[in-house]
Amino acid sequence: MPHYYSENNDTLKSNPKEIAFSVNGTNMRFITDHGVFSKDRFDIGTEVLLKYLTISAGDKTVLDLGCGYGVIGIYLGKKYQLNIDMVDINKRAIELSKKNIILNDVEVNVFQSDGFSNISKTYDLIVTNPPIRAGKKVYYQFFKDALSYLSNNGSLITVINKKHGASSAIKYLESIYKSVEIIGHKKGFKVILSKKWLTIWQGYDIILNCRNTRFFVFILLFQ
Ligand SMILES: C[S@@+](CC[C@H](N)C(=O)[O-])C[C@H]1O[C@@H](n2cnc3c(N)ncnc32)[C@H](O)[C@@H]1O
Repeated sequence: MPHYYSENNDTLKSNPKEIAFSVNGTNMRFITDHGVFSKDRFDIGTEVLLKYLTISAGDKTVLDLGCGYGVIGIYLGKKYQLNIDMVDINKRAIELSKKNIILNDVEVNVFQSDGFSNISKTYDLIVTNPPIRAGKKVYYQFFKDALSYLSNNGSLITVINKKHGASSAIKYLESIYKSVEIIGHKKGFKVILSKKWLTIWQGYDIILNCRNTRFFVFILLFQ
């Protein structure tokens, strides 16, 4: 049975339509169709993700992993001067993204890829509203593989609802990334920022805390 995360949805009748909405004050239009994620409306998870997503000064290259019909990548392309790639396994979503890039007059690259299979570069930022329905196996693999496609200062930003297992996803991310923090939450959705490496200041903080803890134990033992 075809899903929004199927590679090929050719057996599904095509019935394209246009939807329009504003994201944080940026107006956009999208052609959507049967067989793609959230074809009728702007998804709430994506909305919460884009509400809290911030672009750092060092972010030059961005990947929208699992782009669907292109909301995240096109929004970032309209708002910032970035080099953006968007990928999805779903060929229909890729064709719609190509049309939507033109419709919104942005410069963004889009190509089909099963996870990172067709990707051969690294990014400063990887953003994903993960395919929860495809199962943990698929999106935990996204989180793990993203490490190999992030630059050393790179970050992964994702969004998960607590009813879809945000807590266990955070634990998993903490087991593989150097730092993980919740940068925003709304309507049960948590926006999670995971960093490949610590910044100098975060490292300094950890050393300081560690020193203070040792100092405290020393006082307790020898008072
Ligand atoms: C929750 S949707 C998000 C779509 C879009 N980014 C948005 O926020 O509206 C997840 C997307 O991941 C895609 N996806 C699922 N499995 C994938 C895989 N193995 N490789 C690439 N994309 C995949 C689905 O086709 C779907 O478009």
